[in-house]
Amino acid sequence: MKDDYLFKQVYDYVLNRIQRNEWKEQDKLPSIRQLAAEMNVHRLTVLKAYQLLKQHDKVYSKDKSGYYVQSNMTKSLEYPDNPIVSAYVQKNHLSEIHQAPVTYHFSQALLDPNLLPNHYFSDYVKKVFDLYPKVLATYSTVQGDLELRERLTQYFINHYKTHLSANDLLITSGSQQAIHLISQAFIKPRDTVLFERPSYSAAIDIFRAQGAHIVTVDIHPYGYDLEQVEHYMKQYKPRLFYLNPTFHNPTGYTVPIKQRKQLVELAEQNRCLLIEDDAYHDIYFDQDPPPPIYTYDSAGSVIYIRSFSKYISPGLRIATVICQSSLMNSLITVKSLTDNGSPLLNQKIFLHYFSSLRLQQHLEKLRIALEIRKEIMEDELAVTDWKWTSPKGGLNLWVQLPEKISTELLLTKSIEQSISFVPGQVCDPLKQRSSWIRLSYSYANEKQLSVGLKRFIDVAHSLY
Ligand SMILES: Cc1ncc(COP(=O)(O)O)c(C=O)c1O
Repeated sequence: MKDDYLFKQVYDYVLNRIQRNEWKEQDKLPSIRQLAAEMNVHRLTVLKAYQLLKQHDKVYSKDKSGYYVQSNMTKSLEYPDNPIVSAYVQKNHLSEIHQAPVTYHFSQALLDPNLLPNHYFSDYVKKVFDLYPKVLATYSTVQGDLELRERLTQYFINHYKTHLSANDLLITSGSQQAIHLISQAFIKPRDTVLFERPSYSAAIDIFRAQGAHIVTVDIHPYGYDLEQVEHYMKQYKPRLFYLNPTFHNPTGYTVPIKQRKQLVELAEQNRCLLIEDDAYHDIYFDQDPPPPIYTYDSAGSVIYIRSFSKYISPGLRIATVICQSSLMNSLITVKSLTDNGSPLLNQKIFLHYFSSLRLQQHLEKLRIALEIRKEIMEDELAVTDWKWTSPKGGLNLWVQLPEKISTELLLTKSIEQSISFVPGQVCDPLKQRSSWIRLSYSYANEKQLSVGLKRFIDVAHSLY
């Protein structure tokens, strides 16, 4: 374990320096002896890392001379090497895939609109106009409607017994905006940001567009290697760690309670903010997940983001951020410059639905419907030799295909057959992970899942 971790650390270190163009094409890498001394590891550890970099075509070797940076390395990177320049290369990889006009949507980590409480919303719209006839004639406050913040404060206090006031909450237009505001408020080009690998692809794109230097930590079914997290916090002094620890997108993994507490301690000791993106907290099948990381934080090291898109309405664009006051002030400033507050009408409609008894009934039915869809997907995939860890919540299966399949080719062929999915590379901050894919079971209905997956498996099998 320790050896693996050291060797991976050397691998990441070298790859990062190449990606940041500090070691350029054709440059000679430090000798094995030199790097081993510099990093205080055994020479065999460096040798192992160099050999794997060679195998991945990142470096090449010359007899008796040493290792060199591969010449296509920097060109093959999608992002320019200089973070200041990369800040101007705006991309949203996921939305490019979602735009493909297909019948079998396995790329959308979104709910099938038929599973949402659409017909009730018209009642709430009417109610909101009756209660607040001038709702469209005014702005919301920048921080968000006070009535909504008070309601949400009460909800979080009831659920997690934390001390909160409405001043600790900011209402944003979806959690995607929250991530964007955080990146603008706290990240300058070249700041280091820790990311889970794999991760939510739009967050990767947002932090990259801000010029962040991204360092990755693998997420496993049991959580993180906390020794590695600690080491990276000390070595790279990241400004923040963006994490999605509950029914993680794309893997579905959940970080256990013990690690949650330890993470808060590490963050505090190393002055690294934890950005806890908790979009899937309520989408569980049998058992509710551990409390959010922010509930263990007393020093103000966590910025908590809770979206309601995944079970109430993606169209209302309502999420909330919870954090301590000095961070909140910076976020409110950026929010005021961005849109001067989220639309008041949406906040009020959301408030009235969120406060109704219907919500609980809806959630209970939704959990059953999603679990059934997940099981249909797993049953269809059972005929393959593909691997995945069955998630206990969330909207996705993170599936490993045989190495010999090119997931890019598979995507092209699948789209020709009217099927979409997300290749693992899109979710990988390092743009590797080529044999993994994300299949969402939440958007397609039961029939589409069965028919579409059979077709998808045929397409995949035709490629190997
Ligand atoms: C982890 C994660 N965070 C944030 C979002 C964005 O959600 P919202 O609709 O609140 O912007 C998503 C959507 O897929 C997500 O998976």
